[in-house]
Amino acid sequence: MPFHLLQHPLASHLVTHLRDKTTKPATFRTVAYQLSLLLAIESTRDLGTAPKEIETPLEPVTGTVLSQNLVVVPILRAGLGMVQPFLDLFPDVSVGYIGLERDHETAQAKHYYCKLPPLHAGRVIIVDPMLATGGSAAQAISVVKKAGAMDLILACIVASPEGVKEVHRQHPDVRIHTAALDRELNARKYILPGLGDFGDRLYGT
Ligand code: PRP
Ligand code: URA
Repeated sequence: MPFHLLQHPLASHLVTHLRDKTTKPATFRTVAYQLSLLLAIESTRDLGTAPKEIETPLEPVTGTVLSQNLVVVPILRAGLGMVQPFLDLFPDVSVGYIGLERDHETAQAKHYYCKLPPLHAGRVIIVDPMLATGGSAAQAISVVKKAGAMDLILACIVASPEGVKEVHRQHPDVRIHTAALDRELNARKYILPGLGDFGDRLYGT
């Protein structure tokens, strides 16, 4: 199964900060940025490159430059907290948006917005910090596949085993990168131990 757990002491340190209920929104946003930067590096490790002839001050050399288009697609609203590092690292990245919101009673995600750039030519990275039941992610993946995405990654900060299983059941080709794989979902479909509602903690709602 295409699943990658970010294994780095800094990643565990940062996830612990996010989990801590005393962490306030300003710090929460900074730490979410830092973790997303690590995930941005991991999820682009095999991005396409092309050779480029250049001259250093001392001699000619064949270097490499990025050659594959990159599109980052946050699932609104919490996914917005993961976009900035992609913009900072990859100046040519395009951004698409998918709006999905879980119903508080049923935990079913409702689709309310979609705006996507052309997707077929490059790597598409869907970002959503929380993979709980997997319903939102699986729906977003179906949307981008329908729009032409073929090289697809899902990057999240905390995943549940149930969510990983559901995404792979519906989309076995999609690679998942996560900074933490938690124990289980509770009866209200929140991740345990988790960090609570990511969107609420990010924006102080
Ligand atoms: C959260 C989270 C995911 C979804 C995960 O968003 O950001 O999108 O729940 O749950 P699932 O795997 O069970 O679908 P939410 O719907 O709460 O909306 P928000 O980002 O606006 O807070
Ligand atoms: N969405 C969140 O923000 N947190 C969870 O634990 C589950 C869904």
